[in-house]
Amino acid sequence: MTRIGVFDSGLGGLTVLRELAKTNKSQYFYFGDSLRVPYGGRSEEELRRFSADIVDFLEKFDIDYYVIACNTLSVTVTDFLREKYDKKFIPITELALKASEKYQGKFLVLGTKTTINSHFYKNNLEKNPRNTVYEVAASKLVDLIEADKKDDKKLNEYIDSYIKIANDKKIENILLACTHYPIIRENIERRLDYKANIIDPAIFLSQSLESASDDLDINIFMSKKTPATENLIPKLMDFPYKLNYLKEGL
Ligand code: DGL
Repeated sequence: MTRIGVFDSGLGGLTVLRELAKTNKSQYFYFGDSLRVPYGGRSEEELRRFSADIVDFLEKFDIDYYVIACNTLSVTVTDFLREKYDKKFIPITELALKASEKYQGKFLVLGTKTTINSHFYKNNLEKNPRNTVYEVAASKLVDLIEADKKDDKKLNEYIDSYIKIANDKKIENILLACTHYPIIRENIERRLDYKANIIDPAIFLSQSLESASDDLDINIFMSKKTPATENLIPKLMDFPYKLNYLKEGL
């Protein structure tokens, strides 16, 4: 059975794993670094170290290939990981670009500070002269999601400030360029005063992989047990899974 490693700073990448599991039966090994989340805003040196810690951990499971289910890591350490390990790495950003290709016009890219500062999406999407890309670092959202504050008033206030430009300019396409944001997709949709195309790259990713096996086996490793991991993992995962908490981090 194909063994696929999937990783993120915390819970966000589960929105990718969930979509993958829907369409691709395989053996999955997910790592969420709930101990050191958030990754957005950290130095490249730290992100290299953290991602290598995670891959070293997952390598024990004889992984065939990896999905970097984190935009922040994808824009900073993909080349580093490809050089360091003799394995295939699929960064979510590549799929997000492909997913965006079928849309054009105005885009709002919502991501972490690191993803937005890289201008990865703006630089690439604006190669199409019909596109205009607006970028917003929605920096406060990941912490609130990881603190299990999904239904907090504060979260909606932040969303309102981040999507104000979309409501003002009626931006047709909104790219969820952080894998945590699909968890609050409904909040975002409810706070838009018009109908936008919400692009969730995970759905596209799952459609572009081929199903490798007849069995589905999901193993989730989190570096810390938190109220959010306890509450959200069962809600996010529609499939049976084995959940393991690392006692002493990585
Ligand atoms: N979910 C991640 C991303 O897609 C990282 C969020 C964070 O830890 O700041 O960018």
